[in-house]
Amino acid sequence: MRVIVTGGGGFLGRLLIEELQGEGFDEIVVIDIGDVEVAGCTVIQGDIAHEDILPELLADDSCTIFHLASVVSAGAEADWEHAIDQNIGGMLKLLEACRQSGHYHRVIFTSTLAVFGGAAAGGLVGDLVKQTPSGTYGTTKAVGELLINDATRKGHIDGRTARLPTVIVRPGAPNAAASGFASGMFREPLAGLPSIVPVGEETVMVVGSAQNTARCIRLLADLDGEKLGLDRAVGIPGLSATVAEMLAALETVGGEEARALISMEYDLATDQLVQSWPAILDDQRARDLGFPADADLESMIRSYVEMINR
Ligand SMILES: NC(=O)c1ccc[n+]([C@@H]2O[C@H](COP(=O)([O-])OP(=O)(O)OC[C@H]3O[C@@H](n4cnc5c(N)ncnc54)[C@H](O)[C@@H]3O)[C@@H](O)[C@H]2O)c1
Repeated sequence: MRVIVTGGGGFLGRLLIEELQGEGFDEIVVIDIGDVEVAGCTVIQGDIAHEDILPELLADDSCTIFHLASVVSAGAEADWEHAIDQNIGGMLKLLEACRQSGHYHRVIFTSTLAVFGGAAAGGLVGDLVKQTPSGTYGTTKAVGELLINDATRKGHIDGRTARLPTVIVRPGAPNAAASGFASGMFREPLAGLPSIVPVGEETVMVVGSAQNTARCIRLLADLDGEKLGLDRAVGIPGLSATVAEMLAALETVGGEEARALISMEYDLATDQLVQSWPAILDDQRARDLGFPADADLESMIRSYVEMINR
């Protein structure tokens, strides 16, 4: 079977591909707008929202498609037109390619807790809570989730959505996500570099390790669709933590010298976006379905350290 990973050159795409490699797939194809290299994969550079890359790949047989390509949070907030064009336009193009292909494909879409917002964000959110996103990013992802459900109901695809927490720790350069500081506050000090935290220490975020999140995206592809029913979106396990707790975990893993490299410099725009996201996640459905969860913050950071030292 052919596996396709859109956005496969990015942070989570690469980790997901590590999970997929060695599982005996005939071919793993990465489609990425960036000029990327991913070992062991066929890489096609292109824009999933505008170029007709999929029809040829989907013509031979049923495929599994992981759809990760996306404009992310702060980037979407800064450029509404681009976010709608890429995130909703890209999804429509992918679904249409599947529908026209003559084969039944499995599609796994990566969404976000930012589909929740407003009054719902302060309280507990879970798979049965109404989606009232407070930003363009969350709105485009909520639309994507609904399109996946509808295309599945119509029998065009076998769709699934992994609704992800804020994933830490992102290696390398940050992308345009407003949550980027939640990775930078570990990545930079652990490399001996200064880092800025733009929100208050009392801010609560729902975070998950990159390794556990990639594993969950992979597992979602294999899950019996009957168990999901018509609502194909699953909130992937995440852990609520205050920024103060994250700083304490940094100190435990990296020592006082790492903690001393953090400066608290408040930024209203980032804070507003982060505050609009949920603080507590009810991930019982995912756990009942067999998805693993991180044990604690410290182990998340240690798995990052292990990854970069590999
Ligand atoms: N990292 C997180 O904390 C997090 C949290 C919730 C949801 N998500 C979702 O998970 C997915 C992956 O996130 P990530 O952190 O790996 O992001 P990333 O920015 O590292 O990777 C995204 C990749 O998609 C590619 N891309 C963007 N537009 C494209 C297009 N039109 N055609 C082809 N490729 C395109 C980019 O070049 C990039 O390599 C995204 O859908 C994101 O919304 C991530």
